[in-house]
Amino acid sequence: MITFTSQIIAAKPLVIAHRGASGYLPEHTLESVILAYAQGADFIEQDLVVTKDSKIIVLHDIHLETVTNVEQIFPSRKRQDGRYYALDFTLAELKTLNVHERQDAKGKQVFPNRYQGEGTFHIATFEEQIELIQQLNRQFNKTTGLYPEIKSPAWHRKQGVDISQLVMAILRKHKLDDADKTIYVQCFDFAETQRLRNDLGAKVKLIQLIGENDWLESPTDYDFLKTPAGLEAIAKVAQGIGPWIPQLVDLKTMQPTAFVKQAHVAGLQVHPYTFRKDALPENVNQEQTLQLLFERLKVDGIFTDFTDTVVNYLAD
Ligand code: G3P
Ligand code: CA
Repeated sequence: MITFTSQIIAAKPLVIAHRGASGYLPEHTLESVILAYAQGADFIEQDLVVTKDSKIIVLHDIHLETVTNVEQIFPSRKRQDGRYYALDFTLAELKTLNVHERQDAKGKQVFPNRYQGEGTFHIATFEEQIELIQQLNRQFNKTTGLYPEIKSPAWHRKQGVDISQLVMAILRKHKLDDADKTIYVQCFDFAETQRLRNDLGAKVKLIQLIGENDWLESPTDYDFLKTPAGLEAIAKVAQGIGPWIPQLVDLKTMQPTAFVKQAHVAGLQVHPYTFRKDALPENVNQEQTLQLLFERLKVDGIFTDFTDTVVNYLAD
């Protein structure tokens, strides 16, 4: 079955559907995956966290309340910090939740012009998304890939859970731990990226995400990773980096930084996040932004909430 065959050398930059077609439908739902697929994504992203019964689900945060109605369905299940953790719920319980558009702490929709309906959407498992994309690939004779992110491995470990082992077991079950398959595995935590390659024996292509130290996203020192020495260290275990767009370009002047060139010198692909046409800097339009990223900076791919916009741009 030809479903996730190789696409190592990309003629065109890769369009990575960030949380599915999240610009149009609640993020990471199967509906969002199907729309991203239909819009022509090269890869569809899955952020991964663990449930109480050790299942891997597709959810951006370790918490549930920003994208689900967990507070209405399980009001007593919050921790002392007031948050509802996916890890405290079984998959069966999580399947009873409705997924809605991302909300801020006050319950206001973060991107107000996105999906405004009352539809019912559910949390999906990683394996459900693998099967869905695999089946669509078989039927449409395409090779749309997977782009899973191992979320918060250090936090999961503190809770007694080894998320990377669980993810690798699923990849191996589906014969996806293979450098020649259309899949990249990403992680913000550099120690975990190194562990995946060196200790867990991962063969799959790896992407090191680059954040900022003050985000407290992981124990990683991103100031070091952004240096040529840091990029060289990444290149020993990963095929590329996923930097934040403002690390590649000064958004006030729209002048490129040296980061993409330095990463390319280190032999790394560069897949920045996240192009959102409804959250652009004031001084640029979407055409200028995409032109800068693809023509001037020559990035190798891009995470976007709006797959259709980027696919159309690259088709012109
Ligand atoms: O994984 C790339 C991008 O998604 C990183 O940011 O927070 O959206 O997972 P985040
Ligand atoms: Ca992600």
